[in-house]
Amino acid sequence: MSGFQSGWIPPTLLACVLVSGGAARAQSAGGTGAEKNASAAAADYAGAEACAGCHEDLSKAFARNPHFVLDKNKRWAGKACEACHGPGAKHADSTSAEDIVNPVRLAASKTDAICLSCHRNQPTQVGRLEGGHSRSAIACTACHDMHKTGPESSFARLKRNAAVTELCSGCHRDMAAAFLKPHHHKVPEGAMSCTSCHNPHGAFMSRNLRMASSGAEPGCLNCHADKRGPFTYEHAPVRNEPCTTCHEPHGSVNPRMLTRQEVYIVCLECHANLNVPTKGGLLGGVPPAFHNMSVPRYRNCTTCHVKIHGSNADRGLLR
Ligand code: HEC
Ligand code: HEC
Ligand code: HEC
Ligand code: HEC
Ligand code: HEC
Ligand code: HEC
Ligand code: HEC
Ligand code: HEC
Ligand code: HEC
Ligand code: HEC
Repeated sequence: MSGFQSGWIPPTLLACVLVSGGAARAQSAGGTGAEKNASAAAADYAGAEACAGCHEDLSKAFARNPHFVLDKNKRWAGKACEACHGPGAKHADSTSAEDIVNPVRLAASKTDAICLSCHRNQPTQVGRLEGGHSRSAIACTACHDMHKTGPESSFARLKRNAAVTELCSGCHRDMAAAFLKPHHHKVPEGAMSCTSCHNPHGAFMSRNLRMASSGAEPGCLNCHADKRGPFTYEHAPVRNEPCTTCHEPHGSVNPRMLTRQEVYIVCLECHANLNVPTKGGLLGGVPPAFHNMSVPRYRNCTTCHVKIHGSNADRGLLR
């Protein structure tokens, strides 16, 4: 394993992974004709030098690929190409596309299996199977290209907010459009990206949402730590409900990205004299009688209840 300096794959798991081999393992599950043909020659590696003989440009460029480190790994030294493409002796002979694994031509689950044979122990992949992308057959290769180099490669581009957002927006046009509303997170401006809040690989929270570093709290708190508390007097929904009970996360026509045009309408969705059972429910108490809703002043709830996310001084969230 020496020379294989990877910060994120535990060496023991990496060893087991590298022995089983990415593409070789995916093939053994059977599948398309091409895969079966390739698996017939399962043990026969051609070596990267052979590949370079015919795929010259691509092989030269590979020296600048992050996966070039595989060449320093005992298991793959001299045959790094075949870590993803499977044993290639037969193909090197026939030059037929039928005889080699091309990850983009496989079913998404098989492409993922190749990549995850090495990458699944990274923290970022932890929720992969639960994530919407895996369930909807969006393979790794939908977002990552493997052979481009320089600034145009996904390796370089996906380190930039604007490029990440562009990638996501290509499929999620409706979500991208929400950021064009007047009150929005500065995603179109490039100050943050879709992945500031979502993990594209999946997450245990619904909607692939990131959590705050401290545990099962909404990822919003990574940036809005002042809303975390603990407060002596909490506002129940801030603690118990997602922030999206009151806020649109992407963008909104309403100030403060609220779900409703006016603050009091947000409040009265819970604090109203409605005949709804409240036991174990969400509804807060009804405002005391002096709150006269026909007087405009009282409709501006947060001019008085200024500590709307929680207070350390006042039970009524007034200061
Ligand atoms: C003797 C020449 C030769 C050698 C050696 C060779 N290839 Fe190829 N390879 C080709 C040709 C020609 C094609 C195009 C086949 C086609 O489009 O029908 C090809 C196509 C491919 C494809 C694309 C298949 C597809 O689905 O379109 C991959 C991937 C590939 N080669 C990988 C490799 C790897 C990895 C090695 C080394 C193990 C290798 N090749 C060695 C000639 C070669
Ligand atoms: C980390 C996995 C991985 C490694 C290592 C790898 N490839 Fe690929 N290769 C892919 C994927 C995925 C594709 C599909 C197209 C893409 O994503 O760029 C591909 C596509 C290809 C193609 C098809 C041509 C094309 O541009 O679409 C050839 C030929 C090829 N690879 C050859 C090689 C050779 C030669 C090496 C070693 C120098 C190598 N690959 C190493 C994953 C890999
Ligand atoms: C044989 C093991 C192996 C396989 C298979 C493999 N990778 Fe990798 N991958 C690595 C290693 C090792 C690195 C380099 C890590 C480093 O530089 O710390 C890497 C780096 C990467 C990076 C760059 C990470 C960064 O920080 O910029 C991406 C993206 C990536 N791989 C995606 C893929 C995808 C997609 C596939 C499947 C097509 C794949 N890998 C297949 C071992 C593998
Ligand atoms: C929906 C698009 C998408 C899919 C699908 C996807 N990725 Fe990524 N990946 C990204 C983006 C964007 C980044 C850049 C980091 C970020 O913004 O969080 C990234 C980063 C990475 C990195 C760098 C480490 C890190 O966490 O920053 C690796 C390695 C990686 N992806 C591997 C994979 C593998 C393996 C798969 C398939 C199992 C995959 N990705 C599927 C979009 C995707
Ligand atoms: C190749 C198209 C494609 C790309 C690129 C893509 N997605 Fe998706 N995404 C989908 C599909 C398909 C679904 C599942 C259907 C749906 O919920 O809309 C999905 C679902 C999601 C979901 C909902 C997940 C759930 O569990 O309900 C989120 C959040 C998401 N994507 C975020 C992103 C982000 C962030 C990026 C950019 C890093 C991205 N997507 C890139 C196609 C894509
Ligand atoms: C400030 C954090 C944040 C940012 C930035 C963000 N999202 Fe979201 N996104 C959320 C939250 C929170 C939800 C869950 C909303 C809910 O459950 O009502 C969500 C939901 C989604 C969904 C699922 C919607 C549905 O109805 O199924 C998709 C898809 C999505 N976001 C894509 C994106 C894309 C694409 C971008 C970048 C253009 C992006 N998001 C940027 C926080 C964010
Ligand atoms: C990556 C950091 C980051 C994350 C994560 C984040 N925000 Fe923000 N948010 C900001 C910044 C920076 C601003 C203020 C800058 C601006 O004007 O856009 C802001 C502003 C806001 C505003 C006030 C908008 C206004 O019009 O005054 C609300 C409300 C908000 N965020 C809610 C959320 C919610 C809810 C989440 C989780 C779904 C979240 N934020 C996640 C960085 C973040
Ligand atoms: C009960 C409804 C409600 C919930 C739940 C809620 N907020 Fe708010 N939030 C508001 C209201 C109302 C305002 C506007 C206050 C005003 O009018 O000055 C606001 C304003 C904000 C602002 C901008 C002004 C400021 O105080 O910084 C941010 C940022 C914000 N909320 C983040 C969050 C986050 C993060 C969460 C989840 C932890 C959250 N909110 C949960 C109602 C709520
Ligand atoms: C999602 C439902 C919900 C929304 C929306 C909501 N609240 Fe609450 N609120 C509650 C609950 C539940 C309590 C706790 C009631 C209890 O402990 O009896 C509470 C408590 C309060 C309290 C403290 C009262 C007490 O009895 O301790 C005040 C003041 C308050 N809310 C004001 C507001 C204002 C102003 C808004 C609008 C910005 C608002 N709330 C929006 C559910 C909500
Ligand atoms: C002019 C200032 C003012 C405005 C505007 C206002 N309130 Fe109040 N509210 C108060 C005061 C003062 C109390 C009494 C607090 C106490 O007893 O500690 C109170 C109490 C409450 C309580 C009960 C708190 C408790 O301790 O039992 C709720 C719920 C509440 N308000 C909700 C609202 C809602 C919803 C709005 C907007 C529709 C609103 N308030 C607008 C001043 C205001």
